[in-house]
Amino acid sequence: MDGNGRWARQRNLPRTAGHRAGVRSVRAVVEESVRLGIRALTLFAFSSENWRRPRSEVGVLMELFMSTLRAELRRMAENGVRLRIIGDRAAFPEKLQQRIAEAEEITYGNDRLVLQVAANYGGRWDLAAAARRLATEVAAGTLTAEAIDEAAVTARLAFADLPDPDLFIRTGGEQRLSNFLLWQCAYSELYFTALMWPDFGVDAYRLALEDFARRQRRFGLTGEQLRAESETD
Ligand code: IPE
Ligand code: MG
Repeated sequence: MDGNGRWARQRNLPRTAGHRAGVRSVRAVVEESVRLGIRALTLFAFSSENWRRPRSEVGVLMELFMSTLRAELRRMAENGVRLRIIGDRAAFPEKLQQRIAEAEEITYGNDRLVLQVAANYGGRWDLAAAARRLATEVAAGTLTAEAIDEAAVTARLAFADLPDPDLFIRTGGEQRLSNFLLWQCAYSELYFTALMWPDFGVDAYRLALEDFARRQRRFGLTGEQLRAESETD
């Protein structure tokens, strides 16, 4: 979700007004995902690097996180949304950590959409944490070094139980991953749009999904192999 600050500056508003406007896009995309039957949606809300922003902006983001959790919880529960936060939450204010834990608990049984909010998340942080877990298990003798394969790494990442993302969408015109789900996006389709996040609504989301639907995903195979496979299906 990129471009909140620029959206606001273009309107001569403080950057934080862009973050507030961005909450509307979050609501639109979450509700549209539920309507379309999408099973998992991950939003990159706050990266490990975002702490380096001015203190006041970080404060507003934390406050927005709190108030949005409070305001949206009931609607999420009604829509069958299960909320999960991925990232190093220990760095968040105590009250926010509590609220996150409550929201996760209340929505635990919902299964229409898993909504993951990546907060204080970084792809490298995720991989380093998985490496640490593997090393701890090897040291404890519950795992051998030879048994470490791709599945063993995957199982120790923040995402473990969800499939890899099919589609990665970045708004705001920048064309980079910015340390998002590095391991998990190995085969994701990438979609970039110049729209700023507050301008990204249901229509833009549908365009991105239509674009995705037209792509051929080969996963290392040739186009001919894929056609042969689909003919035998
Ligand atoms: C994305 O918008 C929101 C967060 C990172 C929290 P930005 O704040 O990065 O907006 P720009 O890139 O400055 O326009
Ligand atoms: Mg940005």
